Amino acid sequence: MQHNQDGKRELFNTRAGFILAAVGSAVGLGNMWRFPYVAAEGGGAAFVFLYIILTLAIGIPLMLSEFSVGRGAGLSPIGALRKLGGGGWSLLGFMYVITGFIILAYYSVIAGWVVRYAIDGILSGFPANPGEQFGIVTTGMSPIWYHLAIMGTTILIVSMGVQKGIERAALVLMPVLFSILILLAIWAFTLDGAMEGYAVYLKPDLSELLDPYILSQAAGQAFYSLSLGMGCMLTFSSYLSKDSNLGGEATTIAFSDFGVAFTAGLVVFPVIYALGIQGDVSESTVGALFIALPGAFVAMGDIGRIVGVLFFVALIVGAVTSAVSLLEVVAASVIDEFKLPRKPASIAAGVLIALLGLLPASSIDLLGVIDKLAEAMLALGAFFMAIFVGWVAVGAADEMRQGASERSKRMVPLVMTAVRFILPPVILFATTYAFIAVVREYQGAFGG
Ligand code: PHE
Repeated sequence: MQHNQDGKRELFNTRAGFILAAVGSAVGLGNMWRFPYVAAEGGGAAFVFLYIILTLAIGIPLMLSEFSVGRGAGLSPIGALRKLGGGGWSLLGFMYVITGFIILAYYSVIAGWVVRYAIDGILSGFPANPGEQFGIVTTGMSPIWYHLAIMGTTILIVSMGVQKGIERAALVLMPVLFSILILLAIWAFTLDGAMEGYAVYLKPDLSELLDPYILSQAAGQAFYSLSLGMGCMLTFSSYLSKDSNLGGEATTIAFSDFGVAFTAGLVVFPVIYALGIQGDVSESTVGALFIALPGAFVAMGDIGRIVGVLFFVALIVGAVTSAVSLLEVVAASVIDEFKLPRKPASIAAGVLIALLGLLPASSIDLLGVIDKLAEAMLALGAFFMAIFVGWVAVGAADEMRQGASERSKRMVPLVMTAVRFILPPVILFATTYAFIAVVREYQGAFGG
């Protein structure tokens, strides 16, 4: 257990601190790099619409489920699942820790590319040949150094603790991200291609709405973006006091996350259509924005340089706060399971993850496969969480009511019905597709 001076588990200091830390976990590369891309591929407005429905119907109940387990047990995933479900369920906790390990290992590599783009943008402007630049940034020693720098920063924040590290970083960093993004969205509105960009982003293509592949992509993106299915929200909520309104917090966090993803689309699409470079974007998930956006920034001259640097800085902020939450899952488990103090636990976990990250840092094809694998593991983790809270854990509904507002209390039966009957089949379907996508990506990358 993690104790502070009074011998109690360390808790978040303020409600705003918890919410911003959870939003900081949710908002990251998934919102500003992944969401605009998958939305474009998935039929624009139809995808956005589907995504909102899934966030409400699946995302919020699942987040509330994780909260009820985390706050209910007051432990990180392995211990919490063991305490509420018995020894066998601690295996799910282990799977969460492994998922956190895998995601952070490649997430930190991409965050490292972003840092290099921001620094290059400040020092020498964006390159005339963005495709070539992407190759330079992602091969050789450069991605390794930047990945290690991100891991170092992440370890530092996590090792400082819940209040002094995680909460303080979120309180400082998240407002910076929101401000930059709103500024950029206003600027993008003034661009020549803005209306054309919005049209592609927001024009519904209803035929794609019924495509099961798109549905599964939207579900996978929702788990990824909301940091669900790997015990991240569970771990954060273990630092909450009993008087917090779990349903209200889950709703606020989910809407904030969607708001940032949606706003990122309002920036990215006008920029791309102002420059007529839409062809570049649909080429590959991993490279798309790293090639298309800098290309647009360089074509826009001095303004483009400023805007581009701001965009990448916002992306760094989002990525670091998400990386912190990923490491926290692993570190908290080491702390709770091995009764280690926080500092050595976060350093040991962080160093191992940094080492694992050397693989995706050296191979972008491998990174693409791991990205798909991460999504599939989150979906699987979300499926078992729904089963656990819906059918196994006793007292989940009571925990959801504890500290809740009257309105949240009235929602609990509806939430529990969704968790029992709607979430398992829908998530299982998404999980199956997600694992098929892993195989496809693997075959695409390595043949066979
Ligand atoms: N939600 C983060 C993002 O959108 C990624 C993440 C996934 C963080 C899972 C923690 C857990 O970038």
